[in-house]
Amino acid sequence: MSSQVLAAVQTWILILIITVVAIFIYYYYMTSGPPIEQKGVNSPISSEQLFSQAIFDTVSSDPVNLNMAKIIYTEKCAVCHGLAGQGGIGPNLTDRFWLRGDGGASGIYNIIVNGVLTKGMPAWAEILPVKDIMALTFFVTKLKGTMPLNPKMPQGREYP
Ligand code: HEC
Repeated sequence: MSSQVLAAVQTWILILIITVVAIFIYYYYMTSGPPIEQKGVNSPISSEQLFSQAIFDTVSSDPVNLNMAKIIYTEKCAVCHGLAGQGGIGPNLTDRFWLRGDGGASGIYNIIVNGVLTKGMPAWAEILPVKDIMALTFFVTKLKGTMPLNPKMPQGREYP
């Protein structure tokens, strides 16, 4: 082989290697999604995921999220807790009595995430993204004291 042909072959091999590496890098980023720190609020969470006050504060500071939560609540929660949170199959969410948690945001969040499967409350962690669960948590905290018609009788312990 002349040295010119050899140089051409080497160049093509180099181009081939660069292309393969580029495809791998592209494939890696496209399939693994955005880096971890950007995931958070929009990705589904595992049931071990803990309440984050920072995410809660961010979500609850935007009124759009409250409207979104009302829509999700109407679609997914009202069937058991009533359209106004007055209760039905599930407990009243507007009073000061709680079966689980103390009515604070982290307790409400935890029960929505994990559910109470033995009592018929579904676990929403695998169904809804964190942002939606946070928005629902905020929505439920806002139900307290709204005095709906036909409230279900209080269940659980009373909290201030
Ligand atoms: C299939 C019926 C059902 C659906 C749908 C449902 N829940 Fe529940 N929920 C229950 C039951 C039953 C309980 C009571 C569990 C127990 O006995 O501890 C409960 C408990 C709760 C509690 C705790 C109340 C307390 O007194 O401690 C919260 C908060 C709650 N649900 C929020 C939600 C939200 C938000 C949704 C929608 C994403 C939802 N639930 C959907 C049945 C349901």
